[in-house]
Amino acid sequence: MLETHSLRAGYHGGTVLQGIDLTADRCSVHAVLGPNGAGKTTLLHALAGLLPVASGRIGLAGADVTRLPAHRRARAGIGLVPQGRRVFASLTVAEHLRVAYRRRPTSWSPDRVLDLLPRLGERLNQRADRLSGGEQQMLAIARTLLTGPRVLLLDEPTEGLAPAVAADVLDLARRLAADGLAVLLAAPRPALVLPIADRITVLGAGRITTALDGAAARRDQALVLAALAPPRQAPQESL
Ligand SMILES: Nc1ncnc2c1ncn2[C@@H]1O[C@H](COP(=O)(O)OP(=O)(O)O)[C@@H](O)[C@H]1O
Ligand SMILES: [Mg+2]
Repeated sequence: MLETHSLRAGYHGGTVLQGIDLTADRCSVHAVLGPNGAGKTTLLHALAGLLPVASGRIGLAGADVTRLPAHRRARAGIGLVPQGRRVFASLTVAEHLRVAYRRRPTSWSPDRVLDLLPRLGERLNQRADRLSGGEQQMLAIARTLLTGPRVLLLDEPTEGLAPAVAADVLDLARRLAADGLAVLLAAPRPALVLPIADRITVLGAGRITTALDGAAARRDQALVLAALAPPRQAPQESL
């Protein structure tokens, strides 16, 4: 569904992504792992069109979307759920859903989203800043679903959540993939995402250091952990 070829992007002329090749397929969860600063958010922003691509190519269902602005990429089916959720503190759940749906009706109606996330249905008149972190994350995902994505980019969706709540969010990601979406999920560590990942890519300093299918990663978790381990410091020369 989504593919990148030699993707390079960065800030103020500095390159962060040093040539990324990856794919996100329908009905699958692709986890992009890497420590803080590895370039996960930069990658998702470049895919969503929030950051210009310096060189390389992004394909969506065979079409070249590399130069499309963010709103046209969203319309083409790339949906980003940003790191930190970014819900509007003073808007209620119902208002978030209404605004997202009004913008452009898709096959995802608020009713369909609430069937999937009944907990949000119980909170319709709550302001977003009164929701728990898990509920805010669900709301952020709901809002993006209403834009009708084919590819769902989830940037650290379990950040700051208790393990049981994080598991609910990841179960939702898995169900959305089973329903046909291509899910690309950024996370710093493998522990929670390994069970649901069909594909694992490890980023280090803007490069892919390891790419594995999920089953291989689950069989040999040491491979993933080794790829995430910080490089050993060269011993300091003593005088
Ligand atoms: N807005 C920005 N301006 C300049 N540099 C940035 C900006 N955002 C991130 N970076 C740099 O890009 C690199 C990758 O960051 P980021 O994509 O946020 O990593 P991750 O999401 O994996 O933690 C880091 O070196 C970071 O300092
Ligand atoms: Mg990030």
